[in-house]
Amino acid sequence: MPGPSQTRNPFTEHETPAVSVAIEGLSKSFGNRVVLDQVTFSVQPGEIFVLMGPSGSGKSVLLKHVIGLEQPSGGRVQVDQYDATAEETREKVRMAIVFQAGALFNSLTVYDNLALYLREHDLASEDGIREKVGRALQILSLEGAAEKYPSELSGGMKKRVAIARALVMEPQLLLYDEPTSELDPVMSATISEIIALLKNEYHVTTLVVSHDRDLALNIADRVGILMDGRLIFLGTPADLREPKDPRVAAFLYPQIDLQNPRYKQLET
Ligand SMILES: Nc1ncnc2c1ncn2[C@@H]1O[C@H](COP(=O)(O)OP(=O)(O)OP(=O)(O)O)[C@@H](O)[C@H]1O
Ligand SMILES: [Mg+2]
Repeated sequence: MPGPSQTRNPFTEHETPAVSVAIEGLSKSFGNRVVLDQVTFSVQPGEIFVLMGPSGSGKSVLLKHVIGLEQPSGGRVQVDQYDATAEETREKVRMAIVFQAGALFNSLTVYDNLALYLREHDLASEDGIREKVGRALQILSLEGAAEKYPSELSGGMKKRVAIARALVMEPQLLLYDEPTSELDPVMSATISEIIALLKNEYHVTTLVVSHDRDLALNIADRVGILMDGRLIFLGTPADLREPKDPRVAAFLYPQIDLQNPRYKQLET
């Protein structure tokens, strides 16, 4: 049995070490707008780290740094021992991202969406692809959806297809951007269970960006909260149940106040 520092590949018998992510003093500005201001935290091998924060706080921008799609204005991001911006990082570390909107190809069936990466990179024969795609569909309970097109799927199924497609890449590091947004509470809980299952079964290092308080409280090993570009909280879900910082309490447990409504304070 693999130990906590080993990733058992869901599709082969290979065992590869789980990777860590280290975000060190990461700053990012677009023009004169500071989006990330010296953010520091790390994700341990095989851990689920959930990064929360209000809309526009820079969560998606931070994820893009981890997969090397953005260059830091200051500080650095390391994946395992590699710099996230270096081309070789994506050759050395298998990482996959489940994008906020799914990013499925509408003209391809579910099966072909999952097979695309393997075909494009010539990673398996058609028999091998059938086995890997079939396994991913089975893990996500999507066997009946293989020949459907994305437009024929519900929002929850699309999210599951996006996760299945990421799994086919056999990731050591799995990143999720808002995996439960736009889903009903039961489907959100189901997706949370799937994220936890993938971590528990395969020890995939997992970084989830989400507003979903229940997801964070129930499946995170650790949680960070971004606000105004800074990490204002780093701790365990237990620490979040009765937050000491009033900013954290106001974010996680907002009170609806019709006498003094927030919409009157919105920036225009
Ligand atoms: N390429 C870009 N150029 C200029 N500004 C950008 C760019 N990408 C993001 N931003 C800005 O950075 C800020 C943070 O955006 P980001 O998408 O990371 O927010 P978020 O925390 O993911 O929000 P949400 O919860 O709504 O998804 C926003 O003000 C956004 O307009
Ligand atoms: Mg976002």
